Amino acid sequence: MFKVAVIPGDGIGPEVISEGLKVLDALEETSSLSTQRTMLEIGASRYLRTGELLTEDDVDTLARQDAIYFGAIGDLRIPTGVLEKGILLAMRARFDQYVNLRPIRSWQNFSRLKNEAPFNITFMRENTEDFYMGTGGTFRGGKGKVSLRVKRSLYDLGIEMHASSSVPDDFAFEVGIHSRRGVERFVDFVVRQVNQAGLNKVTVVDKANVCTDLYGLWREIFMEKSERVGVELEFIFVDAMAMSLVRNPDRFGSVATPNMFGDILTDLGAELQGSLGLSASGNINPSGISMFEPIHGSAPDIAGTKRANPFGAILAAKLMLDHLGRADLGMRIERGVEDAMGKGILTPDLGGSSTTSEVGDAVVQYLSRV
Ligand code: NAI
Ligand code: MG
Repeated sequence: MFKVAVIPGDGIGPEVISEGLKVLDALEETSSLSTQRTMLEIGASRYLRTGELLTEDDVDTLARQDAIYFGAIGDLRIPTGVLEKGILLAMRARFDQYVNLRPIRSWQNFSRLKNEAPFNITFMRENTEDFYMGTGGTFRGGKGKVSLRVKRSLYDLGIEMHASSSVPDDFAFEVGIHSRRGVERFVDFVVRQVNQAGLNKVTVVDKANVCTDLYGLWREIFMEKSERVGVELEFIFVDAMAMSLVRNPDRFGSVATPNMFGDILTDLGAELQGSLGLSASGNINPSGISMFEPIHGSAPDIAGTKRANPFGAILAAKLMLDHLGRADLGMRIERGVEDAMGKGILTPDLGGSSTTSEVGDAVVQYLSRV
């Protein structure tokens, strides 16, 4: 039995998560799957009522689970960033979810590309380092001192920066950092994933021709590790990668990216698929508690209208089952999504006229049939 914490969240979060839970129910009826679910009210409504974001009680409860199934957060009544940082980023940091896993595949003819060659890419994005460490500052007038502190579960790093400029200008900076341990554990995950997928090659994205130190260490570790395990590497600069993703996405399988480039490329990938509502992602700690979510936000513009596409949330449940060692069931969910699409049971973002729950029902019907 798997213990799963469910956080529906805000806006369309609860609408799409309830479809994902319906799909899990259907699998429990037709297979050996069994889940014990703990619903948590984390998000805007509790914050507005009590001022709480991610509490120690929440963390205690989450720490006892096998996985977290998350909808979306975000509310127009709350300044942008409060919930996102206080809940989402806090959870990723707290549980040290150092890989962001994002499958991007073509679905029927929803792709934005004219060239309809089918593609199926697994993006793995390092999720804790690079330029997203919060290590920045500004030297007003070109002078001063900034003390930076980075606390991660792997290390507690202090950096002192002194500035002395020939002209009294303002200088802003953001430090990108890779640690050997941080990259090593990420590469270990990538190698395992590539092996599990039955592939022997990974495309590694960076900008090592310009940011030679930051991505120099990154490359060095990829080369050391891959040689040892016999995985073939293809290095590609991020600008060339952006171009190739549009030109021929079918030539990629497993793709590893640093944090910031991964953020950007995976949104490009999501859009190549045809709709934001189709994409799911996992925030993974291979030896801890991972969190699975659709990549979209709370979509306040369509909340309550029954127009939300639940496929992303349903596919997040698939990713969760894959991660929990039930890829057989994950595959059935994916087939169920294909089946619903084939029957044209689609929400308006994909050109259909079905409601959120009609789409979920279609996947459930497929699962009860096979
Ligand atoms: P969003 O992803 O919520 O919506 C962007 C656009 O896509 C909207 O027009 C929306 O209607 C549409 N859309 C999104 N998901 C859809 C679905 N499943 N079916 C059909 N259409 C869908 O991003 P936006 O508008 O920038 O942010 C809204 C709120 O969500 C903000 O508070 C933001 O901070 C938060 N957010 C939360 C995320 C999370 O919880 N992981 C991720 C992204 C944004
Ligand atoms: Mg993003």
